[in-house]
Amino acid sequence: MNDELIQHARQVLSDNDRGTYTVPTHGLYPFQWNWDSALSALGFAHFDEPRAWTEIETLMAHQWDDGMVPHIIFHQLDDGYFPGPGVWATNRSVPTSGITQPPVAGFAVRRIHDRAADKALATRKAKKLLPKIHAWHQWFYRCRDPQGTGLVALLHPWESGRDNSVDWDDAFERVPTEGVGSFTRRDTTHANPAHRPTDEQYRRYIWLVQKFRSLGWDNTLLHDASPFKVVDPGFNAILIRSCEDVADLAGRLGLTEIAAQSRAMAEKGITAMESLWSETLGQYQCYDRAASKPIDSPSIGGILAAFAPIPKARAAALTDRIEALAKACNYLVPSHDPTAPEFDGLRYWRGPVWLIVNYMIADGLQRAGQFSMANRIRADSVRLIEHSGFAEYHDPITAEPCGGAHFTWTAAMVIEIFSTYEVAA
Ligand code: GLC
Repeated sequence: MNDELIQHARQVLSDNDRGTYTVPTHGLYPFQWNWDSALSALGFAHFDEPRAWTEIETLMAHQWDDGMVPHIIFHQLDDGYFPGPGVWATNRSVPTSGITQPPVAGFAVRRIHDRAADKALATRKAKKLLPKIHAWHQWFYRCRDPQGTGLVALLHPWESGRDNSVDWDDAFERVPTEGVGSFTRRDTTHANPAHRPTDEQYRRYIWLVQKFRSLGWDNTLLHDASPFKVVDPGFNAILIRSCEDVADLAGRLGLTEIAAQSRAMAEKGITAMESLWSETLGQYQCYDRAASKPIDSPSIGGILAAFAPIPKARAAALTDRIEALAKACNYLVPSHDPTAPEFDGLRYWRGPVWLIVNYMIADGLQRAGQFSMANRIRADSVRLIEHSGFAEYHDPITAEPCGGAHFTWTAAMVIEIFSTYEVAA
């Protein structure tokens, strides 16, 4: 069974392979996405190490001069996606979007290097990639944390990777819709509209894009100018973890300055994460920086924090929190608490299970010694795929496959999980 699933997963990866990058899935997402690529590289690495490195190299080749790595790279024109390059207008030879996404590439590079069969190749590749990834991390703390708090803010929900999470709802209300012309969404022609964000949300998404565009995509201005500024524990955890991994690998490869600076960023971040802990929810929570108040929303963002080297007691508390969620669903980990009124098991990030997030939570819990919960999350992930296939995301109660099908990072996670861990039946 495992072999069959792995074969199927490899087929998904090769069908979505465009030579030097993969698309998340044919149709719905016809370009290269940032964190999709970094996580998909983990899957490739199990059967084609050079191809895994190429995936990350292609992503990093489109880094901006200021260090930012864009969330989408529009390698080839395709009318099937909105908003396309014309809306972003970032003025680059190969067009990109103007916002970023969770910086998981640092983690991926270290993991692929650690396990590489071809160590000489891995070291050559890593030595070239680490300075670029490090520049991206420095960009985050410079441009998205101008006050030096140790935590970076997201300026657009799409940066979070958890595009329409309940976490953004209140803060998003502050984003106007005036001046947003009419447009035709394309996502709802590829996927069931009931699984996707609403039109109202889309108008606000576009307002922010227009605002940033009017500032010439100058990242020294965007943070202070944005009415949407949210600190997400999950996102910060990914950044902290990547800084830590870059520090470790850079140290081993003799890049001592990068190692020291990365270590310092990770340590500052982990100390600052404590301010996001919510005793009431029993997990971390987001913070609305524009309104200066915590966001009391029981989402997976506050659980994904486990991916960072948080204190052991916090990891244990997150395990308890996941135990509680398990009582309200059949497959861990729901992207929103099923007992909360806003929960929607089918709609994008408002309830469904995402395998990539499961993978990162399980990885963090495992490092913190929470083995049994880590195994359970991986076992649930596999059960879900066996039951419902390689969908973009799944309903945590019914296992209904949602969003796009034949999904690259879902397949990559299946390969990664089976090839790395004993998965309990
Ligand atoms: C959606 C997801 C985002 C992902 C993209 C491509 O926008 O919310 O996290 O990167 O699809 O898969």
